[in-house]
Amino acid sequence: METLLQVLLIDDSEDDALLILRELRKGGFHPISERVDTESAMKAALSNKKWDLILSDYNMPLFSTYEALSILKESGRDIPFIIVSGAIGEENAVQLMKEGAHDYVMKDRIRRLVPVINRELQEADERNLRRTAETRYRKSDFIVNTFSDMMALINRDYIYESVNKSYDKTFKKNNRIEIVGHSVRDLWGEEVFQEVFKENLDRCWHGEEISCEEWLEIPESGKQCFEITYTPYQDGGGSITHAVVVLHNFTKRKMVERELQQSYVKLQKTLEDTVRALSAMVELRDPYTAGHQNRVAGIAQAIAVEMNLPNDSVSGIRVASLLHDIGKIRVPSDILVKPSRLTNLEFELIKEHSYTGYELLKSIEFPWPVADIVLQHHERMDGSGYPQGLKQKDILLESRIIGVADVVEAMVFHRPYREALGLDAALDEIRKNKAILYDPEVVEACIRIFLEKGYKIHEK
Ligand SMILES: [Fe+2]
Repeated sequence: METLLQVLLIDDSEDDALLILRELRKGGFHPISERVDTESAMKAALSNKKWDLILSDYNMPLFSTYEALSILKESGRDIPFIIVSGAIGEENAVQLMKEGAHDYVMKDRIRRLVPVINRELQEADERNLRRTAETRYRKSDFIVNTFSDMMALINRDYIYESVNKSYDKTFKKNNRIEIVGHSVRDLWGEEVFQEVFKENLDRCWHGEEISCEEWLEIPESGKQCFEITYTPYQDGGGSITHAVVVLHNFTKRKMVERELQQSYVKLQKTLEDTVRALSAMVELRDPYTAGHQNRVAGIAQAIAVEMNLPNDSVSGIRVASLLHDIGKIRVPSDILVKPSRLTNLEFELIKEHSYTGYELLKSIEFPWPVADIVLQHHERMDGSGYPQGLKQKDILLESRIIGVADVVEAMVFHRPYREALGLDAALDEIRKNKAILYDPEVVEACIRIFLEKGYKIHEK
């Protein structure tokens, strides 16, 4: 099969060009050619087309081979340049090859031309492959060295075989050679080598990819937080010979996260303190029920945990419990502390505390529906509660839980108008009215926390 060959012929003789082309065809090529014999024509030909080969005469009236070689050099192209001449002295030939010609063939020995071309084309291919590989290497080397992460190739003797520039910067070294050839133990010290690197490198030799977080002491920078990844590196035969270890410094992000966490905890504490202050405010006016909301919060929280509610819901139930009677702030103190049974009118005034509580809390943006939970804490499953007479699942679960905790607490402790009734009576009440007034699941959980889990109501 013929090989297509794009040939630029630098020759002032049409006949000589035809002779060369015939020789190429005989040698199995299918030449596509253009003949030039001036500087401008050669420049135009080089910029217009891609050439596999340049064959140049030596003796031309308008153009010299030296000029042709210099034009080729200027173009930056790597094209095999072979001189085909009738008369070229040894000295000239050597000089032209110094200038960049690849070979020369005498016209009277034209049969040498095809083997010379084949060899030169092959060498040009090899040069091209080498150049591509070098370019690729330079690019990847550039990427590796401009990477701010520390990257290293570590062999099975724990020796650094290659590190990127980030290593010299981090360890304040002038050159990577000060690290390459040294062991991980030398660079980080025996303790850090044993505690941080050795075990992970050993796992890496077994093919494991590892990613972990470590605080490491860095010269002049102090403790820094790194995400370290270990990737096994295999040689051509598939054996793991090295580990590629990348250290990504994310101390700044870690510090921001820590500060955020601290301010979140502080904010939580502020919320808790505010809720406690509000809770205490209502109890100031009603010393007989002092600690009531706190005790209800304890029972409601224990029920919620027993029911496996998510932590966030448990927190919401706790906050709403601490505030559930805040509306009592608008009920006259005389009624709150009245030692005898309440009249219907007085009871109607007391009942308003659910709605008052809702009104007070609705504009506060809690992460839970605290105002609604407070509004519904006296609703009952059969619709007999207040203020809206809601039934069953229309009542918020949080309110159903607080409702049960509220009743139990109220019966266990004394009230201005009666003595304490005790835990047994309280549990009897919720058992008797299970599914009628109270949510059956909440009742079951409440009984379990007292009778099986030994829950004790805290005095305050
Ligand atoms: Fe209440």
